[in-house]
Amino acid sequence: MKSVYDEQSERWIEMKRNGKNINHIYLEKPAMKNKISDLGGKDVLCLGVGSGEEIELLREFHPKSIVGTDLSSKLIESAQLSFPEYEFYACDMENQPLINNSVDFVYSSLVMHYKKSWEATFKEIYRILRPGGIFLFSTHHPVRWSAYQSKIKGHNKRILGYDKLKDKEPIIYGDYLNNTKLTDVWFGDFEVEYYHKPFGEIIPEIIKSKFVIADFVEPKPTKQFESIDPKAYKVNNKIPLFMIFELIKQS
Ligand SMILES: C[S@@+](CC[C@H](N)C(=O)[O-])C[C@H]1O[C@@H](n2cnc3c(N)ncnc32)[C@H](O)[C@@H]1O
Repeated sequence: MKSVYDEQSERWIEMKRNGKNINHIYLEKPAMKNKISDLGGKDVLCLGVGSGEEIELLREFHPKSIVGTDLSSKLIESAQLSFPEYEFYACDMENQPLINNSVDFVYSSLVMHYKKSWEATFKEIYRILRPGGIFLFSTHHPVRWSAYQSKIKGHNKRILGYDKLKDKEPIIYGDYLNNTKLTDVWFGDFEVEYYHKPFGEIIPEIIKSKFVIADFVEPKPTKQFESIDPKAYKVNNKIPLFMIFELIKQS
């Protein structure tokens, strides 16, 4: 299966490297970083590594090794060029090129929502993690991403709710309870497809995976976010954009 990130790899790399992806830089990455402690002596997998920028973040924690994987072979080529000292592989998150019990920490930032079901990915990550190992991942928060959305000439609207009028059909905005494939356009011209799924599917999938939830975070924007985009800061301070799960493979 080809990734949309292959077709638009140059555009994605440009956006990643021009510092304009403020939801990543001033909200999600600091929250993910906050969940990492010393990785000294540990083998790390960066799942959905994209063009590799998160390698910089991970190596601040001095891991013994880092492997990066991603569905997009073009992004993997770019990551390999930027970080020749690490190994990168193009593959689906459900099929990792690693042997059983071979890594201590799996880091995955904003990748899980590209799968309708997380069952096969959980099984694969459970297989490659050593007992006691951690799977830290961020993904779309279902409350925000299940909302009705319209974007017209700079007017962005998201509503999750309804109008129920006497003697008329209700008008319903959004669909929280159903697993849905959504199409979207980011940054004006970056077309993507991803899945929304409710907590009512997420939590049972985690329970079935045998992973144990060690932590759950609904990150707020950092103060720097406010100085860069005060309007988006206000929204992100009240309506969750992403969420983070820390899962443990028990010993
Ligand atoms: C929003 S980007 C995040 C990239 C990087 N983690 C970051 O935060 O900059 C999503 C990434 O998920 C990758 N991806 C999408 N579907 C995937 C799949 N089925 N298996 C592995 N990677 C996938 C895309 O190629 C892309 O690099």
